[in-house]
Amino acid sequence: MSKKARVKVGIIGSQFEADIHAYSFAAMPDEAEVVAVASPTPGNAAKLAKKYNIPRVFTDYEQMLAERDIEMVTIAAPNYLHAKMTIDVANAGKHVVCEKPLCLTLQEADMMIDTCKAKGVLLMYGEELFFTPKYVKAKEMADQGAFGKIYLVKQSEKHFGPHAPWFWDVAKSGGGVFMDMGCHGIAFCYWFLGRPKIKNVYCQMGTYVHADKTKGEDNSICIIEFENGAVGLIEDSWARRGGMEDRIEVYGEGGVTYADLHLGNALPTYSEYGYGYAVEKAPTTKGWTWPVFEELWNYGFPQEMHHFARCVRGKEQPQATGEDGRVVQQVLYAGYQSAGLGCKVALPFRPKGVKTPIELWRSP
Ligand SMILES: NC(=O)c1ccc[n+]([C@@H]2O[C@H](COP(=O)([O-])OP(=O)(O)OC[C@H]3O[C@@H](n4cnc5c(N)ncnc54)[C@H](O)[C@@H]3O)[C@@H](O)[C@H]2O)c1
Repeated sequence: MSKKARVKVGIIGSQFEADIHAYSFAAMPDEAEVVAVASPTPGNAAKLAKKYNIPRVFTDYEQMLAERDIEMVTIAAPNYLHAKMTIDVANAGKHVVCEKPLCLTLQEADMMIDTCKAKGVLLMYGEELFFTPKYVKAKEMADQGAFGKIYLVKQSEKHFGPHAPWFWDVAKSGGGVFMDMGCHGIAFCYWFLGRPKIKNVYCQMGTYVHADKTKGEDNSICIIEFENGAVGLIEDSWARRGGMEDRIEVYGEGGVTYADLHLGNALPTYSEYGYGYAVEKAPTTKGWTWPVFEELWNYGFPQEMHHFARCVRGKEQPQATGEDGRVVQQVLYAGYQSAGLGCKVALPFRPKGVKTPIELWRSP
């Protein structure tokens, strides 16, 4: 394939994250084009296809995988399907972009990585925080020595809970907010600090406001100690009112930086009457709100997908990989176990017979 040809992409899924993928490729169209979408509920893939001018529509993703010209497939389906889908995509000889979290178990993570290697395809991990412009700027400064020796990196992501029922069903999601959003913070701290070895993990979690609809935790705090002496502190919530919050703080002996992903990219706004859309998970557009401009760009999604397409053409090396996803997976295991035991859990930590990470905290 010529280096100039755009990478032909298929998307699995047609709802929240699939829309973000389709938008992202359309926003930076020079490296890739979405040629197909597959999603089981009749009409849903067709709706996404219409919105983004995607020519081919499937209700069965395996039929989409039979399309010979598709080179890369992005997986935007529930967590419990990631492993099987990744393996099917790799067996069809196509490069994989798998959304976070990588999968449910470490065995699945190994199988995904091994199959992609054996089939000679890339396994790229959908962690957009590695591409979030504000956070990339913070890392650039850290790498240039702005903060001297870093001793603490914090990331937190909070809202009032996810949009689709499967997130609340721990058999399908693998866990609550720590699984869903803690995976971002774990990946972030690990990446920010230059992927140092992890010594141990301590977690506290509970189900504070949503016990009526989930066995998953809706608030979690995680402390990671790295071998280079730095600490990661990751706070996540599905119990926080008022819309989405995503923030980082970086502390070194020589300096500090703070970044709020939304504030600073938003217009302090008051409206008696409301308006169309403010920001992800915002409950209202009336009263005081903070509508974010270029929301998906500020998250880094278009930049992430653009990078992955360039990796397929050999123009860049993947910056977010299946191996990163597996490290996150191991910290998720250790975090749930730590919350269950009430003490630190040292890595490597690889208990056998795990079906969902959350069962290491409490039985589903
Ligand atoms: N990177 C991020 O910040 C981010 C944000 C949201 C979601 N996600 C991840 O994206 C994934 C999807 O989440 P979502 O919010 O889009 O969920 P969603 O419920 O909005 O959409 C899930 C999609 O998967 C499809 N699906 C279900 N079973 C399928 C099957 N057998 N074959 C093909 N498609 C199938 C559904 O039809 C639906 O279109 C999850 O893993 C989630 O963690 C990532």
